[in-house]
Amino acid sequence: MTAATDPVKLSKQEVGKAAAALVESGSIVGLGTGSTTAYAIEFIGDRLKSGELKDIVGVPTSFQAEVLAKQYGIPLTTLDAIDHIDIAIDGADEVDPQKNLIKGGGAAHTREKVVDYFASRFIVVVDGAKLVDRLGSVFPVPVEVIPMAVGPVTLALEKLGGKPELRMGVKKAGPVITDQGNMVIDVKFDTIDNPDELEKILNNIPGVLENGIFVNCADVVLVGEVKDGQPVVSQL
Ligand code: A5P
Repeated sequence: MTAATDPVKLSKQEVGKAAAALVESGSIVGLGTGSTTAYAIEFIGDRLKSGELKDIVGVPTSFQAEVLAKQYGIPLTTLDAIDHIDIAIDGADEVDPQKNLIKGGGAAHTREKVVDYFASRFIVVVDGAKLVDRLGSVFPVPVEVIPMAVGPVTLALEKLGGKPELRMGVKKAGPVITDQGNMVIDVKFDTIDNPDELEKILNNIPGVLENGIFVNCADVVLVGEVKDGQPVVSQL
């Protein structure tokens, strides 16, 4: 791979590489979604190709992860064929000091939550811009909703004090459709005082499949940054 020159890309590349280095031969690996994890998938593929890594299988969290894994020669399996995942690598849109996350910028948070929570070790890979003091500071909470329930769920989210917006496609007319055939409502809250509680409240609205708040799930958060022109990776 050629080294990126854009600092954000370079940060993502380095942190992806650092996470890929944590994968051991013989393990079952959860493969996350997004531009940062894409680098980790590529580096895992490189390690397999060079023979440094052997006998791994991946569990993709999205069609994107599946396509990338195939492209980089990572054999895949499904959750019904395994009884554990050793390590999962996935990105995030926001990370607070307690390692709670907002995910779902790529509308993949439902499958990501299943895979990331199931993993014995969940490694989060982010660039420094994703670190916040409090969840919801910048990013809205993505909520996956079955299509017929978009109206009532929107009203319920407004009642909770949120500002809901149906996510629209880019290069596709109309709403984003998830890998499960559902829609995503992005909800901006002024403050999220208790992420644990909000995660449960949102999932309790009839018609909601899953939301992007991940609490007490991340084991390690790796942060990529560029300092003095050099990419560095640190641990939160
Ligand atoms: C996918 O739905 C998301 O949870 C991503 O993992 C998250 O949006 C991070 O993506 P980037 O690494 O592209 O910022």
